[in-house]
Amino acid sequence: PSLEKEFLPMYFGWFLSKRSSETLRKAGQLFLDELGSLKAFKKESKFFTSEDPKLKIDLTSYFVKRPPGVLHCTTKYTDFGKAAGAEDYAQQEAVRASYGKGFTLSISGLFVTTKTVGARVELNDQQLLLWPGDADKVQATDSLPKGSRAHITLGCASGVEAVQTGLDLLEFVKLEKAGNKGEEVGEIGGGKLQYFGNGMWMLVLAKKIDVRAIFSGYYG
Ligand code: 2AM
Repeated sequence: PSLEKEFLPMYFGWFLSKRSSETLRKAGQLFLDELGSLKAFKKESKFFTSEDPKLKIDLTSYFVKRPPGVLHCTTKYTDFGKAAGAEDYAQQEAVRASYGKGFTLSISGLFVTTKTVGARVELNDQQLLLWPGDADKVQATDSLPKGSRAHITLGCASGVEAVQTGLDLLEFVKLEKAGNKGEEVGEIGGGKLQYFGNGMWMLVLAKKIDVRAIFSGYYG
């Protein structure tokens, strides 16, 4: 038994290996390059730029805030113990037992909104044990499948905080749940591109990307 109260991290999550981070960054980069030069995207460019819609849109410079170092998938934002439910989460048996263990996460899609670019993570049953019960809501009344918010932030537009990526993904899931499958724009490298309006683009990967990750805490 420790004498001091446990010190909680800023957040718990899966931290990708250096190699997997590079693989995913590259996939994200390819997606942004391809999307920015796509006719269908340029047609809707008003959500991203006031410039001539015929020009290629440089989405890499649009999403200026990119996570430094290895990428991660946040499970619970504990804010050093100050966030609601932080202690309860940290004390869960699954969390304690998995701390420091290796996992393979499956990336099923890549998405872009006017605020963020991210990777959609499809959690398996074992991984869902580490998913907090309160994460999958934008509004208190939302009832979405557990793990709906699971994502890896690849970039944010100027002035946008990383927390936004998960909220943006939940907006896609809400539309899907309402029966909106998005407009099928066609196949691009990597998979099927869907457009949900308002600058919301989702690439459904033809082949899921597996990434290696360690479940751990980030202390800042
Ligand atoms: P992210 O998981 O979308 O990237 C540190 O700020 C990390 O914790 C970020 O990577 C961020 O987002 C996540 N984060 C910050 N505030 C959060 C919140 N209120 N809820 C969930 N995740 C949050």
